[in-house]
Amino acid sequence: MNPKQMQEVFLSEKAKTLLYHPQGMGNYFTFKSAVDILGLDWDELLPNGVYNVTGGGVFDMGYMSNHIGPPEVAIKALKEHSTLEELRVYPPDLLPELKALAAKKKFGREISDDFTVLGVEGAQGGIGYTYMTFLNPGDEVITTDPAYFHFVPGAEVFGAKVVPIKLNERNGYKLDPREVEAAITPKTKMIVLCDPVNPFGVTATKEELLEIADMARKNNIIIFNNITHNTHQTDPNAEHIPLASLHSPETPMDHVISVSGISKGYGMPALRVGFMGGHPALLRGAFLLKMEITKIHINYPGQYAALAAMKDDAYIERSTEIIRRNYKHIEETVAMTDGVSIPVKPQYGFCMIIDVSGTGVSAQEVSTALLKYKIATITGDGLGEVGATEYIRLNYSHPDVECVEQFRVALPKAIADAKTGMYRQAVIDFFEKTGTLRGKEIIKKLKG
Ligand SMILES: Cc1ncc(COP(=O)(O)O)c(C=O)c1O
Repeated sequence: MNPKQMQEVFLSEKAKTLLYHPQGMGNYFTFKSAVDILGLDWDELLPNGVYNVTGGGVFDMGYMSNHIGPPEVAIKALKEHSTLEELRVYPPDLLPELKALAAKKKFGREISDDFTVLGVEGAQGGIGYTYMTFLNPGDEVITTDPAYFHFVPGAEVFGAKVVPIKLNERNGYKLDPREVEAAITPKTKMIVLCDPVNPFGVTATKEELLEIADMARKNNIIIFNNITHNTHQTDPNAEHIPLASLHSPETPMDHVISVSGISKGYGMPALRVGFMGGHPALLRGAFLLKMEITKIHINYPGQYAALAAMKDDAYIERSTEIIRRNYKHIEETVAMTDGVSIPVKPQYGFCMIIDVSGTGVSAQEVSTALLKYKIATITGDGLGEVGATEYIRLNYSHPDVECVEQFRVALPKAIADAKTGMYRQAVIDFFEKTGTLRGKEIIKKLKG
């Protein structure tokens, strides 16, 4: 059997959903695609396959790890709790203290008869368990376009139909309750309310949250409130409200599943610790599935590191300053670069979009050239149909100011290179290899 036949015969329908999905890993364009196009050395650039691009002086503005890294207290806790006693046991789902702190600090709730927190493998674990616990084939899931890579493929794996709401200037690049209402059908089972929204970093207002929660409650719809980017207040005037915190007798939030992690807020994606909050009756389903599939235990060193980090408010202050500084720098760079714009100013986190459509070349060509000039980025096609060839997503958390300084040098040079057309065929070849429908549309566009 050739590899294709093997996949056809042996893979489950779930796995097959992803093989040619435009958002299946490897099927969308990233700086890793650019490594091949530029003929760079993988081992030098991505030592041991680590995405945190440090080799060759490349700055990583691609995937969303918090480059500031963890606070000292977390590293200390990690070491202190890597003992023989703590490594030879199956730890609990979450330490009671961490459970209570995550409930309060992340979701604005106390542990009670109607709220609890389950430990999961990062916020991503929370996405997987939320989909697995609540979705059946044929269910409809409302989400945004663009959205975090995995919201669409993850739901489709469980047979759900994704109903995307296009984000644009009119709706302020976030879910508009009126549009959500219009998208609801008798089949709607879930609304993915990513707040702050990846990739724009925009937050919902209290009124918007209450309206969406109200219509979901009336229609027996689960709200999946992913708030993992809410730790850093990028815009000093912005406010972020965890939906769960609006729970009251008049506005019960029992239909809300909240998810967060420690990768964005505290710079520890390697530890794979995350939190899934909700009503115990609903989380019981997730608990049972988790036990059968990956086991319920979350590593002790990671739990203690999370606990220490979440108590370190000074760390958040320091890291927020870095993020604000970087955003301002990028804003200035964009203002001085023809053809590039920021569709919307981010409010929380370190995730933002630049739109390069005014340059006349695709985001993928610019992104390839940016890597040549030591800046690694991700393009819009991994995030949705909207902005697929226009958007470049930037992570602006790098603690070293040289990152944004290099971005300023790189951007005009990258655009000039891309305009020569020197990377167009290689980008077309990339999408031809992936065989996705979105890739085919992009090829048509690039061929003009
Ligand atoms: C919205 C969103 N959810 C989840 C994740 C994954 O987070 P974690 O590392 O905690 O699994 C990311 C990472 O970029 C994200 O942007």
